[in-house]
Amino acid sequence: MKNIKAIIFDAYGTLFDVNSAAEKCKDKIGDKWEGFANYWRTTQLEYTWLRSLMKRHKDFWQVTEDSLDKSMKTYEIDSSMRNELLNLYKILSPFKEVPEVLKSLKDKNLKLSVLSNGTPSLLNELIKSNNLEDIFDDIFSIEEVGVYKPDSKVYDIPIKKYNIKKNEVAFLSANTWDISGSGNYGYNSIWVNRNNNTFDNLDYVPKHQIKDLSKLLDII
Ligand code: LAC
Repeated sequence: MKNIKAIIFDAYGTLFDVNSAAEKCKDKIGDKWEGFANYWRTTQLEYTWLRSLMKRHKDFWQVTEDSLDKSMKTYEIDSSMRNELLNLYKILSPFKEVPEVLKSLKDKNLKLSVLSNGTPSLLNELIKSNNLEDIFDDIFSIEEVGVYKPDSKVYDIPIKKYNIKKNEVAFLSANTWDISGSGNYGYNSIWVNRNNNTFDNLDYVPKHQIKDLSKLLDII
C-alpha cells in the first residue's frame, strides 16, 4: 500500500480476544461458554450503537457490565461469576500472532496506534497487562468525542491528531461494521477475517482481507 503514514488498530476482537474471558471460565460455565461469550459481545455492541443513537452515552466499561448482566441472566450463569468475568475482561489475551507482528511493524517509520471504544484506563490496563505498552504512539479512545463507532467523529480523532489525510491511514479491524464505518469515512480499511465470515453490504469493499495480522506485513 502506498502513501500510508499511520497504521491504526481496533482493539476488541482485532488485537484482543473478547471470548478469552469466558473461555478461561469454561470449566465453571460448561459447554455453553461460547454461546454466552458471543451473546455478551453482541449485546455489548448493540448497546454502544443504541446509546449513540439515543444520545445517552455511558462509557464502555459500564456498557460491558450492563451487557454482562443481561447475558448472565439469559444464559443462567451463577451471579458469583460476575466479578471473575469482569476482571478477566480487563486483561483479555491477545491473538497469538499479535505481539510479534506489532513488534515487526515498530521498525517501519509509521505511526502505530489503537482507536477503540474502550475507555483510556481500560485500554491502558489491557495493553500493559500484555506488555505492549512500548509499541504504540497513541491509544485513542472514543471517550474523547463521547460517541461510539461508527460515528465519523471517532475516525476523525487520529486524522486531527496526526494532521494527515484519511487515505493515508491503514485501519485494521476484525469487526465488519467497523471496516464498513471506517471505510465509508475514507480510511484504507483492512478486514481481519479470522473466522471466514461474510462481509457486509454497506457500500464499502475492504481494501484488503487478511486471515490474521501476520499477513499485514506482506501488504504494508
Ligand atoms: C473497539 C471495538 C469495536 O475496540 O472492538 O472499538
